[in-house]
Amino acid sequence: MFMKNLSIIIAVIALAISGVIFFTRQSVNAEGNKMNNQKTLVVYYSYSGNTEIIAKKIQSQTGADLFKIETVKPYPTGYNEVVEQAKQEKASSYMPELKQKVANLQDYDTVFVGTPIWWYTMAPAVKSFLSENNLSGKTIIPFCTHGGGGCSAAFSDMEKFAPDSKFKKGLVIYEKGNSSTDEEITRWLKSL
Ligand SMILES: Cc1cc2nc3c(=O)[nH]c(=O)nc-3n(C[C@H](O)[C@H](O)[C@H](O)COP(=O)(O)O)c2cc1C
Repeated sequence: MFMKNLSIIIAVIALAISGVIFFTRQSVNAEGNKMNNQKTLVVYYSYSGNTEIIAKKIQSQTGADLFKIETVKPYPTGYNEVVEQAKQEKASSYMPELKQKVANLQDYDTVFVGTPIWWYTMAPAVKSFLSENNLSGKTIIPFCTHGGGGCSAAFSDMEKFAPDSKFKKGLVIYEKGNSSTDEEITRWLKSL
C-alpha cells in the first residue's frame, strides 16, 4: 500500500516538473514561436552586409523565413558614388525595380522589415518593397542599422508606406552590432 502511494506521489511530482519545464520553454521562446500557428517572415535590404547580419540573427532566433530584397540594377560599389546616387534618389522619391517577389506573402501574419539608413530614412529598395506589396492587416516589426546617426525617420516613414499595417517597436543597431547584440535581440523579441 505504502509502495503504491509512493509511486502515485512520484508520478504526480514527475508530471508537475514536466509541466513546469513545458511552460517555461513556452515563455522563453522568442517572438517566432510565441506566435504559434502564425507565419513570420524577415525581409531586409542590405548594401554592405550589416543589415543582413542582423536579419539573420533575428531569423535564427525566431525560426522565421528569410527574404533578401535585391535591386535589378546593382548600386555602385564605390562609397562616394552610392552616397551621391542615394541622395538624388531620395530627392526624387525614386524607387528601384526589385529582382524577386516574396512567394505567398499572403501566408505571413508578421513581417520583420530591415533596412540600412540611407540619408536619414530607409533605403529606396525598402520603399519599393513596401509600395509594391500589400501588407495591410499584417504586423510589421521594423529594424535598422545605421552609421552613427540613429534610425532617424526610417520607422515613421515605413508607417507611411504601410498605413494599414500594425507596427511594433523597432530595433536600432549601430553598424553590424557588437558582442551583446544577440542578447539585445532576445530582449527585444521578448518585449514585443
Ligand atoms: C548611401 C548611404 C547613405 C547613408 N546614410 C546614413 C545616414 O543618413 N545616417 C547614418 O547613420 N548612416 C548612414 N549610412 C550608413 C549606413 O546606414 C550603415 O553603415 C548601415 O549599417 C549599412 O547597412 P548595410 O551594410 O546593411 O548596407 C549611409 C550609408 C550609405 C551607403
